[in-house]
Amino acid sequence: MKVQNFYENLSTLHVGTMDNRCWYVPKQDGRESQILLSGDDWKFAWYPSVEEVPEHFWEKDLEKEGFINMEVPSCWQMKGFGQKQYTNVRYPIPYDPPYAPGENPSGAYVKDFTLTEKEAGERQFLYFEGVDSCFYVWINGEFVGYSQVSHSPSEFEITGKTKAGSNRMAVLVLKWCDGTYLEDQDKLRFSGIFRDVELVLRPQEFVHDFTVQTPVAEDGSAEVTVRFDRVEGTPEINCTLTDADGEEIGIAFTHGETVAFPVAAPVLWNAEQPYLYTLTLQAGAETIEQKVGIRTISVEDGKILINGKQVKFRGVNRHDSNPYTGAAVTREDVIRDLQLMKESNVNAIRTSHYPNAPYFPALCSEYGFYMIAEADLESHGVGTLYTNDGHDCMGYIAQDDAWAESILDRQKRNVIRDKNQSAVIFWSLGNESGYGGNFEDAGRWVKAYDPTRLLHYEASIYNSAGYHNDVSMLDVMSRMYADTEWVKEYCEDRRMRKPFIQCEFIHAMGNGPGDIHDYMELMYKYDKFCGGFVWEWCDHATWEGKAADGRDIFHYGGDAGEFPHDGNFCMDGLVYPDRRPHTGLLEWKNEIRPVHAAGKDLAAGTVELWNVQDFADLADTVQIRYEIKKEGTLLAEGEIREITCPAHEKVCITIPQLGELSGDQTYLKLTYVQKADQALTRQGRVMGFDQIALFEEREKVLEIAEAGAVALEENDVSWIITSDRICYVFGKKKGAFTELVRDGKALIEAPMTFETWRAPVDNDRNVRQVWEEAGYDRPWIRVYDCTAENAGEKVRIHCDFSIASVYRQPFLRAKALWEVNADGQIKLTLDADKDMTFPYMPRFGLQLVLPENQDQVEYIGYGPTESYQDKHRACWVDRFTTTVDELLEDYVKPQENGSHYHCAYVKVGELKAEGKKPLSFNASYYTAQELTEKMHNYELEKSGHVIWHLDYGMSGVGSNSCGPELLKQYRLNEEKMHWELVIG
Ligand code: GAL
Ligand code: MG
Repeated sequence: MKVQNFYENLSTLHVGTMDNRCWYVPKQDGRESQILLSGDDWKFAWYPSVEEVPEHFWEKDLEKEGFINMEVPSCWQMKGFGQKQYTNVRYPIPYDPPYAPGENPSGAYVKDFTLTEKEAGERQFLYFEGVDSCFYVWINGEFVGYSQVSHSPSEFEITGKTKAGSNRMAVLVLKWCDGTYLEDQDKLRFSGIFRDVELVLRPQEFVHDFTVQTPVAEDGSAEVTVRFDRVEGTPEINCTLTDADGEEIGIAFTHGETVAFPVAAPVLWNAEQPYLYTLTLQAGAETIEQKVGIRTISVEDGKILINGKQVKFRGVNRHDSNPYTGAAVTREDVIRDLQLMKESNVNAIRTSHYPNAPYFPALCSEYGFYMIAEADLESHGVGTLYTNDGHDCMGYIAQDDAWAESILDRQKRNVIRDKNQSAVIFWSLGNESGYGGNFEDAGRWVKAYDPTRLLHYEASIYNSAGYHNDVSMLDVMSRMYADTEWVKEYCEDRRMRKPFIQCEFIHAMGNGPGDIHDYMELMYKYDKFCGGFVWEWCDHATWEGKAADGRDIFHYGGDAGEFPHDGNFCMDGLVYPDRRPHTGLLEWKNEIRPVHAAGKDLAAGTVELWNVQDFADLADTVQIRYEIKKEGTLLAEGEIREITCPAHEKVCITIPQLGELSGDQTYLKLTYVQKADQALTRQGRVMGFDQIALFEEREKVLEIAEAGAVALEENDVSWIITSDRICYVFGKKKGAFTELVRDGKALIEAPMTFETWRAPVDNDRNVRQVWEEAGYDRPWIRVYDCTAENAGEKVRIHCDFSIASVYRQPFLRAKALWEVNADGQIKLTLDADKDMTFPYMPRFGLQLVLPENQDQVEYIGYGPTESYQDKHRACWVDRFTTTVDELLEDYVKPQENGSHYHCAYVKVGELKAEGKKPLSFNASYYTAQELTEKMHNYELEKSGHVIWHLDYGMSGVGSNSCGPELLKQYRLNEEKMHWELVIG
């Protein structure tokens, strides 16, 4: 069909739309006066291009035309139409603005609705909450309008085009438009009417748009002011303000002049105590209710203050994403996310990189979250244009006048919709769209329109040659993935006056993140570091059914055969696509727990606590359960139900048994428990914990006992050790045991090997190549000398060897002493020298291939979830029993998982191991090679054995998939390694 071409026209962004307004749901006679048009009775047909859509399709015999029943809201790719695609930076279309591809896939929708006589006499509006990417609307064959900006609402008045009885609405949605160049967010790309559609019925006269502000005076009194930005007609407006108990605070009448309600001693809103007043505006038959949190936002000495108190943002970046429905998410989905966030101590959300559903900010105000409300704007793709001189193109759209209106339009739609929502602390101009005049102007508009909030835009750090960035309108210094050194420097540089936030950090892809603690230490240390937002909340994937083994089949980039795609870079959340928490979320949760144990005094029997909440007193929020344990055995436990300590302050608590019980391997664990129910969380919830060692860490003395006579024999390839219980074979060229038989049973099913490889975690994506070049993935052992002696009750084998990869020089040279007693206990004493020209190593240790039935596991170390040297804050040291199955952390993209760090002891099946220093271990049915090679968890094949890694060390996991390189202190890169280990 032929439509007027607004979709490739930068000066016609909307046709027939109402002015922007704040979001509300009007009521008449106490009931919502809008009708939800969403449902599964829409008719839908998909066409490869606009031209192929039948002219006046709404008049056709829809069935004949191939229209099917369609659920709205939905994404048509999730309903079997069109191409699924995940692309990050690169545009899914050629860069040729304002043009969209000539063949522009289109969805034709038809929806019939009825109006009663009464309804037909009212004014009627269509409110589209979100349509990707642009759309045309007709009512009863008459053209109503056109709009774009996928994640912002569009409203059309249809009064006069309808009638009592049945009405037919037709909507034509195009996959691409000029706005596509501004919606290049890193996500699965979906199309269609993906948010709700409402028919809003209103009287002839009504309040269209208003602004609420809540200035608080020095003396603590406040004012709630209501400015009427657009009123239809001149109705008398009856305004009432009530408190949360429904008590009336004030009442005022106006015809559109600003009204102000003084509130003498207001209860202020903050994310910890989200107290809301209710403002009611009644104009004729219609009432609008607006929740109002009274609060102020200010900046002082590089700190961000809410109600005059410094706050820290412990945030996440959230996309709308659901593996079953794509970008179409329900209110229940949203609330589930918010609940999980609250349960995980998260207090802030950046709506990356577009406005969420219109009701989203209201939920954040109600439940208590701070928001960075971001405009629907990212033009990252200009950064990948073809150049032959390598010049930076990131300023193209930001600095081109042709885009000025589009960029400003997106700010207005963002700010005006959400301006009355207390949760919004920052407006964000968008993400990764470069910098230039269009953003400076847009930023100035936002600051002028709403001076009560802070303005954020990270991409102001992009500098184009010959352009001087004016960032004066931006209130905060925002960076993404700045490393800890940069953060320190910024915070210590007194010339840098703006508060600093990381709008993205702690990249949560795959097994990680490993640097949470390092950032949090800085956040609590520096006032100017006001917090950050983890990238990102959820893994994005599409669910494609169940595999034969019962696993869910989740697809990511490339799995739909699309080009371009960015693989599993969309699987970078704190929760799996179906919202099961990743271990990274548990880690983040405990790092942002409300209380920290700040110090201990064993003699006095006290522990100092630090309330890191910004408003709440511990008296109202936290109780403590404590236990003192030694190697898993409980020595004492108790509860502390009443602790008084204001926000940001410290207090000492007494643990009576502390002094007497502190001793070797003894730990005190304090568990912080939620004291009272809150809207989304329940009393008794574990908010976090601290574990404190009540001893000085010392190395163990490791010996194997003499246990009777052993015999030693040799042949050309092996040393053979026997006793009345064992027959062990040591490979002279292998440098390790090739067979272990005890009490007639084979303990291992393949030779023991020294291993240096781990299945790369996503955060190893950069260092992986360096490791492969060093050959850590294919170690060859070369034994130079292997002698043995029988000391009567112990056999000693001395072995000098090196490890190298094919075509490289050895990266490790070592001397090993293996001792064996008659019970079959083995002690390894190893001294290894690493050639420091080689990079740090993924791991170094032994691999034992055990029979598959050796699946019972017990250990003393960091558990119960996987732990690494830089990722163990969700874990504590205890004695854990588990199974090989349970140890698996089943990442959709397979990778190293399920290790346990700092273990004093581990037993897998019948074999125990213990190090002089704590070791790391892993036991899995999958080999590191299998986990390296397979792209999806449902493709994994079990090895038929239990693969047991006993590691001298394992490098940390970090967050280098997008964040900085692994911090030096977490790299396995010691020049001299001394390892003592007993296996038996
Ligand atoms: C950031 C970007 C995010 C996401 C992330 C990588 O640069 O703002 O949208 O792409 O990198 O996961
Ligand atoms: Mg991007």
